[in-house]
Amino acid sequence: MAAWLPASSCCHPMTVVAAALLLTAMVAAPPAAVALLHDDVEPMWGADHISFHTGGDGVETLALRLDRDHGSGFRSKGAYRFARYDIDLKLVANDSAGTVTTVYLTPDLVPPEDHDEIDLEFLGNVTGEPYTLHTNIFVNGVGNREQQFRLWFDPAKDFHTYSVDWNPRRIIMFIDGTPIRVYKNEAARGVPFPTLRHLRLDGSLWNADDWATQGGRVKTNWTQAPFYAYYRNFHVTPCAPSSPGVASCGDEQPDSAGFDKHGAALHKTRAEHLLYDYCEDQNRFKNEGLPKECTAH
Ligand SMILES: *[C@@H]1O[C@H](CO)[C@@H](O)[C@H](O)[C@H]1NC(C)=O
Ligand SMILES: *[C@@H]1O[C@H](CO)[C@@H](O)[C@H](O)[C@H]1NC(C)=O
Ligand SMILES: *[C@@H]1O[C@H](CO)[C@@H](O)[C@H](O)[C@H]1NC(C)=O
Repeated sequence: MAAWLPASSCCHPMTVVAAALLLTAMVAAPPAAVALLHDDVEPMWGADHISFHTGGDGVETLALRLDRDHGSGFRSKGAYRFARYDIDLKLVANDSAGTVTTVYLTPDLVPPEDHDEIDLEFLGNVTGEPYTLHTNIFVNGVGNREQQFRLWFDPAKDFHTYSVDWNPRRIIMFIDGTPIRVYKNEAARGVPFPTLRHLRLDGSLWNADDWATQGGRVKTNWTQAPFYAYYRNFHVTPCAPSSPGVASCGDEQPDSAGFDKHGAALHKTRAEHLLYDYCEDQNRFKNEGLPKECTAH
């Protein structure tokens, strides 16, 4: 049940307070190619559970902590309308059952019916059992577009790069440059697509043992706490603004919009790693029929 809520719902009361305090910082910041992560992100909730460490390579890593008291979350200072967001993430190691680590795009305070969200949520597991990557896309307050994946590596052993590339034509999610999910803008035939709002990148680590692991049967083992997830190398590449005679990323032609270019790789990833796709869940939508984006036109 709760699994179908937006990732942002984990920390809603705090989000509201923090966002209200930060209303003045709502203007989109310019893209920054800075090595120091703390210049580009800010604590969102659980600030006393967030720390930054600079490694020998000069790259700054942000650690989120979860313990019995609470978890933590951060967000990018900049908000963008169409951009590619990349971030490296290393998940909670060993017994991560009950924990959820997230990367998601979300707007600032908007009425629920205007809420867009693009989610990657990593559902923890007991030692030796695999994480599940749960993805979802909300447009105008409505989600129900879940797809889940089994990762082909141990996401807690090393950093891997998770990306969302969002332009007016489509959204593509990547892992280490390999496409895992495409959502096309088919607004012309009535499929909702997020185009209106500026989205920030948020990350969070929180307890969701009522649903996350093996359907909620396995609870968080608090004797293993504190739990840590690590983020670094955050990059945003905003869509170039259109100027006369120069194509912006929204003007790209269909064949370069990602479908053809990424088609074969996408097909392979999905054949090998897809666990669940709402578009294939006939039973779930047996009354109202599959959502429009699931049906060929
Ligand atoms: C995970 O387990 C390994 C092997 O027992 C241990 O070396 C490592 O410190 C553990 N990591 C965490 C985060 O507890
Ligand atoms: C955890 O491991 C079990 C057993 O391998 C698996 O069925 C489940 O999908 C895994 N992931 C989660 C989030 O429960
Ligand atoms: C929780 O972790 C402790 C310490 O490793 C372990 O002894 C215990 O069996 C674990 N509990 C469960 C329910 O797995």
